[in-house]
Amino acid sequence: MRHLLKLAGMKETEGREILRLAEKAKKARGKKSSSKGPLAGQIWALIFTKASTRTRVSFEVAIRELGGVPSFLSAAEIQLGRGELVRDTARVMGRMVHGAVIRTFAQGDVEEFAEFAKIPTINALTDDEHPCQILSDIFTIEEKRGSIRGKKVAFIGDAACNVPRSWAEAANIFDFQLICGAPKEFRPPSVGKHVSWTEDPMEAARGADVLYTDVWVSMGKESESAERERIFAPYQIDRKLVGLAKKNALVLHCLPAYRGKEISAEILEERAEDIFDQAENRLHTQKGILEWIVAKTLKGKR
Ligand code: CP
Ligand code: NVA
Repeated sequence: MRHLLKLAGMKETEGREILRLAEKAKKARGKKSSSKGPLAGQIWALIFTKASTRTRVSFEVAIRELGGVPSFLSAAEIQLGRGELVRDTARVMGRMVHGAVIRTFAQGDVEEFAEFAKIPTINALTDDEHPCQILSDIFTIEEKRGSIRGKKVAFIGDAACNVPRSWAEAANIFDFQLICGAPKEFRPPSVGKHVSWTEDPMEAARGADVLYTDVWVSMGKESESAERERIFAPYQIDRKLVGLAKKNALVLHCLPAYRGKEISAEILEERAEDIFDQAENRLHTQKGILEWIVAKTLKGKR
């Protein structure tokens, strides 16, 4: 049984296999009939407690184009939203569907679901992790600028939230440098050989191959909006920061974007081609992830 619950523990060869499948899926898009795809005959539940545009649509399309059927379940509309336990929901799902894609708050809930459902389970974002996003972003960087090994990725903003946490795991796996420019209240939970932190966004941006940001107010943190906007005000990706990065640096954003907050409107529009290619690549990478999980799970059963 294979899951994708977090990036920690993934081997580079496994990540590379997913990226290779994603590349193949991108090239093949529109050319292949889905009826014999690797998910033929499978129904996958998408259980979402938080809002989503890219992750939801990319998984729904990917599952269909791989021959499967997605079943979207808003947590508010199933008994989970009325207090049914995660483990009981999981035991039911595991008897009816072939896999699950889950977006929620607690990382422990996704892990508990996987344990009790006993079906392949994918983390579609928790408060701690966003593994599918970061695998897809590596795909985008390598597609546009070649191997990520040894590159400097500067994350500017809330370095304590899910997206940079998964970036930090990826830096250890794929051997690149992640430098976080973040206020001390929102510094990364740990630093090390591949991950560093500075309070100065300009220092983080200097010489970077990739400038990356995410929202200042993650889902679930809305009550802290005013305080966060005050603290993060100096951490906007704007022309000044872009000018400090390498001349051909990529500017990426996982989206949704709030212009005038974590990124200036002019930089977002100037770099829109890359940023929306990045969003599109979520679809191709979800296919890589699904195909990899299904193949590994089948292999494990043989
Ligand atoms: N980047 C991302 O996960 O977007 P959604 O919240 O729209 O899925
Ligand atoms: N950190 C953001 C990511 C959104 C894709 C959030 O959790 O809301």
